[in-house]
Amino acid sequence: MEHRDTLARAAGPRIRIGTAVSGGGNGAGASTPAPFLAAGPYRESAASEFSSLTAENHMKWLLLRPDRETFDVEGADAVMDFAAANGQVVRGHTLLWHNQNPDWLEQGSFSAEELRAILREHIETVVGRYAGRIHQWDVANEILEEDGSLRAEQNLWIRELGIKIVADAFRWARAADPQAQLFLNDFNVDALGPKSDAYYQLVQDLLADGVPVDGFSTQAHLSTAHPFPDSLAENLQRFADLGLATAITELDVRIELPGGAEPTEEQLAQQAEYYRRVTEAALSVPGCESLTMWGFTDAHSWISHQFPGEGAATLLDAEYTRKPAYFAVRDALVAGRPDGDR
Ligand code: XIL
Repeated sequence: MEHRDTLARAAGPRIRIGTAVSGGGNGAGASTPAPFLAAGPYRESAASEFSSLTAENHMKWLLLRPDRETFDVEGADAVMDFAAANGQVVRGHTLLWHNQNPDWLEQGSFSAEELRAILREHIETVVGRYAGRIHQWDVANEILEEDGSLRAEQNLWIRELGIKIVADAFRWARAADPQAQLFLNDFNVDALGPKSDAYYQLVQDLLADGVPVDGFSTQAHLSTAHPFPDSLAENLQRFADLGLATAITELDVRIELPGGAEPTEEQLAQQAEYYRRVTEAALSVPGCESLTMWGFTDAHSWISHQFPGEGAATLLDAEYTRKPAYFAVRDALVAGRPDGDR
C-alpha cells in the first residue's frame, strides 16, 4: 500500500495540494530568495508534502520588474526549477494587481496606450517564459471591492484603462500559454455574498464576450475569531456549474495571540476544524483540483507582519512539528479518495 504520510500522497491524483514558497522576508521587498533556497527543513517539507507551488512574491511585478527594461527572473526561475525537480506543478501569481507594483510603474506618467503596451509586454514575456509549465495563472487578482464594485481607484490598470484591460490580460495570457488555466482570484469570496456574487456576474459577462477565463479561485485567508464561511462549497459549486475550474489558493487560518501568547489547545482544535472543512469543501466540488496553503510553517508566514497580534496560522509550527490542523487536512484528503482507493 502506498504510504499516506505526506499531504501530497494522502491526496493522490484527485487534487493538487500546494503551498506558497517564501522568497524570504515578508516585507514588500522580499528581495532575497531565503529561506526557500537554503537547505534544511523548509525545503524538505516544501518538496515532500506538496504537489503544487506558488511563488509567494517572486512572480509579482515588484520583484520581477525592478525597472521598465528588466525582467529579474531569478527567484521565479528558482521556484520553477524546484517544482520540476520534485514533480510539482506551479500556480503563477499574479499578472494584474493593485498591490506590490514597482514605483516606476505606479508613479510613472504613462499614457493609456503606453500602459497597455507595458502590461502586454509583461504578460507576453512572463507567461511566455513559463509556457507549458504552469498549471494555473492568477491573471487578475483582487479586482473587486467588498461591495462588489470594481477596485478602480487603487488598481492602476483599471483606473487608467477601464475594465476592458482585464479581458485583454486574459487574452494575452491565453495567447502566450494556451495550456495554463486562467483564473480570477480574490480574498473574502469564500462565501456567498455581494463580492462573490459580483464575480459570478462578471465571469458570465466575460465568458459571454468570449474572454478566455477558465477558473475562479478564493484565497481563503481565514481566522478562528471569525465564523467559518459555511457556504464555501455552495459558492464554488455555482462557478463549477458554469463550467469553470475552481481553486483555493491561499489558505491559512490565523489565531488571535495577544502579547505573543501561544495558541491554546482549543484554538488549535478550532483551527484544525477550519482546515478540515475547507479541504472537504474543495473535494466536494468537481473541477476543484488545487488547494494551496499560504505557507506551511509558522516560522515563515506573512500573518504576523500583516495582522499584528495574530499568528500560528499554518499547518506546521515554527519547529516544523505537525499541528492538529495538519492531521485534519491529511485525514480529510484520505477520506476524500474514491472508495476503492483508500
Ligand atoms: C503577501 C505575501 O505573503 C507577503 O510576503 C507580501 O509582503 C505581501 O503579499 N493576497 C495575495 C498574496 O494575493 O499575494 C498576498 O501575499 C497575500 C494576500
